Amino acid sequence: MPASDDQSAYWSSTGTTKTFGHPLHAAWTDRLPRDAALLDYGCGYGRLAGELTALGFTDVEGVDVSPELIARARAEQPAARFTVLDRPPRLDRPDGACAAAFLFAVLTCVPGDAAQRALVAELHRVLRPGGLLQVSDYLLQPDARNQERYRRSEERHGRFGVFTTSDGAVCRHHTREWLDELFAGFEPAGERELAVRTMNGRPAVATQLLLARR
Ligand SMILES: C[S@@+](CC[C@H](N)C(=O)[O-])C[C@H]1O[C@@H](n2cnc3c(N)ncnc32)[C@H](O)[C@@H]1O
Repeated sequence: MPASDDQSAYWSSTGTTKTFGHPLHAAWTDRLPRDAALLDYGCGYGRLAGELTALGFTDVEGVDVSPELIARARAEQPAARFTVLDRPPRLDRPDGACAAAFLFAVLTCVPGDAAQRALVAELHRVLRPGGLLQVSDYLLQPDARNQERYRRSEERHGRFGVFTTSDGAVCRHHTREWLDELFAGFEPAGERELAVRTMNGRPAVATQLLLARR
């Protein structure tokens, strides 16, 4: 595994100081029964899990590599369950156990193709056929600052769009072609673009996808 695909040390130290802000698009959860099994992969401090329980969902689990973020999630969101992943992306769930999964600002933290494929394959395994995957992440950003750092980092990371933040996280912004390939096992069911703040407080454009497991 490339070192940049295991950033658990970052998420247990510097990462615990961050604020995550990609908003949940609640309308995409409207058709789910309130007792549907929901999985928030890379849940951080339980922000989305908390929003989902506030919407009335009763079976919400968040999973993350960071024991520190999971401890905070457990303290702040008692209506949801939280699990530390010790062998990511392996989930302790049977095939087809989940009605929906959420993957918010996680792919950007898992830069390698193979690691992203393994993560998406595991979500595909635990979703039932027709189950929904909501993704919020970054396409390549057009602004000069990002374009410059993609260029500067390309040789080091071997890919345009992968870069190291000033505090040491290796992140990826994606081409549309890559996301289409990555999610080939899903049927597109919705897409939106919105202005967000990154975890470092910078303005960016996020892309949100609603995907149905084939
Ligand atoms: C930018 S934060 C987003 C947190 C949360 N999804 C939210 O939007 O509030 C990225 C999260 O992904 C987690 N993460 C990073 N790599 C991971 C991996 N390989 N497996 C599971 N979680 C991971 C980090 O610990 C962190 O909590």
